[in-house]
Amino acid sequence: MSIAGTQQHDVLIIGSGAAGISMALTLADSARVALVAKEALTESATLYAQGGISAVLDETDSLESHTADTLNAGAGLCDEAVVRHVVEQGPKSIQWLIDRGVSFTREQNKKDSADYHLTKEGGHSHRRVIHAADATGREMELTLAQQAREHPNIEIFERHIAIDLITGSKLGWRDNRCHGAYLLDRDNDKVVAFSARAVVLATGGAGKAYLYTSNPDIASGDGIAMAWRAGCRIANMEFIQFHPTCLFHPQAKSFLVTEALRGEGARLSLPDGSRFMEQFDERAELAPRDIVARAIDHTMKRSGVEYVHLDISHQPATFIREHFPTIYQRCLEYGYDITRQPIPVVPAAHYICGGIMSDIHGRSDLEGLYAVGEAAYTGMHGANRMASNSLLECLVFAESASRHILEQLKQPGSPQPLPEWDESRVTNSDEEVVVTHNWHELRRFMWDYVGIVRTDKRLQRAKNRVDLLQHEISDYYSNFRVTSDLIELRNLTLVADLIIRSAILRKESRGLHYTLDYLDRSQEKRPQTTILIPNNYIRAKAT
Ligand code: FAD
Ligand code: SIN
Repeated sequence: MSIAGTQQHDVLIIGSGAAGISMALTLADSARVALVAKEALTESATLYAQGGISAVLDETDSLESHTADTLNAGAGLCDEAVVRHVVEQGPKSIQWLIDRGVSFTREQNKKDSADYHLTKEGGHSHRRVIHAADATGREMELTLAQQAREHPNIEIFERHIAIDLITGSKLGWRDNRCHGAYLLDRDNDKVVAFSARAVVLATGGAGKAYLYTSNPDIASGDGIAMAWRAGCRIANMEFIQFHPTCLFHPQAKSFLVTEALRGEGARLSLPDGSRFMEQFDERAELAPRDIVARAIDHTMKRSGVEYVHLDISHQPATFIREHFPTIYQRCLEYGYDITRQPIPVVPAAHYICGGIMSDIHGRSDLEGLYAVGEAAYTGMHGANRMASNSLLECLVFAESASRHILEQLKQPGSPQPLPEWDESRVTNSDEEVVVTHNWHELRRFMWDYVGIVRTDKRLQRAKNRVDLLQHEISDYYSNFRVTSDLIELRNLTLVADLIIRSAILRKESRGLHYTLDYLDRSQEKRPQTTILIPNNYIRAKAT
């Protein structure tokens, strides 16, 4: 519904990946939902997810084992109650997807069987990853998007990019609520105020802060930056996960080669064929991701090679083509037949374990504001996310946040009329080069100084540079008309700053944060979660 330049809905969901779209569908039978995407509806990290979704789906597996593996990967920083909640809800979430028509791969030669094929990935001690060949996210996102488009209570806004949240305190009202957000309608170049009784940030991760990443271009940390500016706490930003195996090819932008390949026996080696993973971990190729990525990084630097090899060609060609059709096809386009030869791979930034602090219902620090999916910090992943636990977390929290919102909507109330966007900044900039230049500079120094291996000195260098960039961008932002590139750059630079600040605070190597200045984990009895509070950066004990 639109009233005098303001869109009004019961719930505004910013982001239409796994987290946002499943929330929209869960809420829509009882609430009017605005579902917003800054690109096309389905363009998201979710669309490119390959390996699958972890859940206990087999009687030889157990909730205890999934919980233990997750806690182990998280290196002492997971919130055990949250892990148990997510793991317990896992089978129900998978059933929800199946009921919605998501089609998962079944056991080979048993097309009519009720048995789904479960694969294995790093850190899992059982086969528990349900998948749709090697394009799980695509199957899920396209199936759910179709249903969202057909639902009469879901109004979809594509190519609308959220700029900032609208809060009571910013409006000078006497409340600490989130009332909505300003969104730039990219096709009509106008800013619209969206008002809602509940606002959900489901904006995904921030991989674009790094030069090399598996993430699509939408991953610019917008939700985390908006929440921070609105006064929310942000936690554990130093834990950036680097996926060990992205295709090394100048034209293959961001193409991931799933960990499930290693789950099905693929081996890593130097280009001369010598294997190296056993020197780093007895689980070899199936060690958790941080260990494998560091081992590759170390081996590449020591040997002076530009990439390592990932080889599954010892498996039958029919098995490879059936289980990994997307990877087989994409690699073939780049000249590699994976049934016969190895794939050149390198690590790349993949996932951010930290984010907007949210509770078991997805509630952030601001009343009426929820955070779900990769943008949120729930305590599930600790210092390192185990493979295929992200989509699971998206689904479980989408459900619990929806339930909480529906309870809130039972109270009397309506979306508030909101002031229009201040149009005083109407000057178009003729200096787009500044945005492009700053973007490249940011991604380069984040890769070099805040990457897989860190030191105090590198982090300090990065901090000096990010401070300069923030200053320049803030000046630019206040003088010129907003564009989506400028919005994303402003957010990415802020998120980079939060990552660097958190990394500087952590004086130990733990999980994904590895620093040559503090090679061991701290001996403190209770490891600490890094919590940043707007205007007062502090670090607090883990709960
Ligand atoms: P996303 O799916 O990234 O969706 C973000 C949404 O927010 C998009 O709709 C975007 O348009 C919107 N958005 C962002 N900013 C704004 C803004 N300012 N205004 C309006 N809209 C905005 N995890 C697994 O568990 N299993 C896997 O197999 C797996 N494979 C992966 C493979 C790849 C290549 C990648 C990149 C990730 C993979 N992951 C996997 C991680 C997982 O896919 C993501 O963590 C998860 O999909 C995130 O879902 P999300 O809903 O939080 O965000
Ligand atoms: C992959 O398929 O390797 C990615 C899985 C994940 O990020 O969880």
